[in-house]
Amino acid sequence: MQNQKTRDEELKRIYDKESEVYDKKRFEDFIGSFYNRCHKDTVKKIIRLTRPANNILEIAPGTGRLTFLLTKNYSSVTAVDISEKMLAKLKAKHKSKNLKIKVGNAQKLPFPDNHFDMVYSFRFLHLFKRNKLFPYIKEMRRVLKPGGKLVLEFNNSFAGIFLHYLYEIRRPKEKRENYVRPSQLKRIVKGITYMKWYGVGFPCGLWLIAKLSDRAARSIHSFFGMSPMKFFACQIIMVWKKKKKKNAE
Ligand SMILES: C[S@@+](CC[C@H](N)C(=O)[O-])C[C@H]1O[C@@H](n2cnc3c(N)ncnc32)[C@H](O)[C@@H]1O
Repeated sequence: MQNQKTRDEELKRIYDKESEVYDKKRFEDFIGSFYNRCHKDTVKKIIRLTRPANNILEIAPGTGRLTFLLTKNYSSVTAVDISEKMLAKLKAKHKSKNLKIKVGNAQKLPFPDNHFDMVYSFRFLHLFKRNKLFPYIKEMRRVLKPGGKLVLEFNNSFAGIFLHYLYEIRRPKEKRENYVRPSQLKRIVKGITYMKWYGVGFPCGLWLIAKLSDRAARSIHSFFGMSPMKFFACQIIMVWKKKKKKNAE
């Protein structure tokens, strides 16, 4: 079985190569740009929920398509990614004075304990198998101040009432996407308190409605993301708060 170091090196290679086409391939066609706007709407909700906070760490910002929402709303943002080439794209886009960019591995973050008011990641955890997630989450928790917020987003096993899962289960094991259920993530994330979660992306052709009205489709997306429909969202974004007492293992 592939070890974690090899997986990190593999991801670095993949994203170094992908950097040239990442935004274009995923977020420039009609469906991609619609979901990109939905992602931004969700991140804005997270920002409203987690303010006030000053010192933010974004794990795996990639080309920084969502980073500007953070630099606009928090006084200091640090962005860490394993791929220099993805970060080069981010640097070319973002000139914000309150943004620090670092190449680094999320499994061994180059920061002291209890340093950030919020640690945030989006489209990152799905890169790893469920049983490999803990070291990354533990490291995020380490650099988070007591009372600070942790924002984690992952692929939901219940997406489309299991339709995604049933599709994946037919594929060879090594090619399957990584899914987690909210209850499973709650068991992995120890020592911090769960606050709130939202659903992101719904496999029900919302983009077709966006063809008629972008505003209506995004309002439906936003409503679904907070309603019981969120159980069947493609991705889930969860917000946690680190306990104030020490040694929260
Ligand atoms: C799917 S992209 C997500 C980028 C961005 N968050 C977004 O939503 O568009 C995944 C990112 O994770 C980064 N990555 C993968 N493994 C990493 C690791 N171990 N430490 C830090 N970054 C990593 C990749 O370089 C890539 O930029």
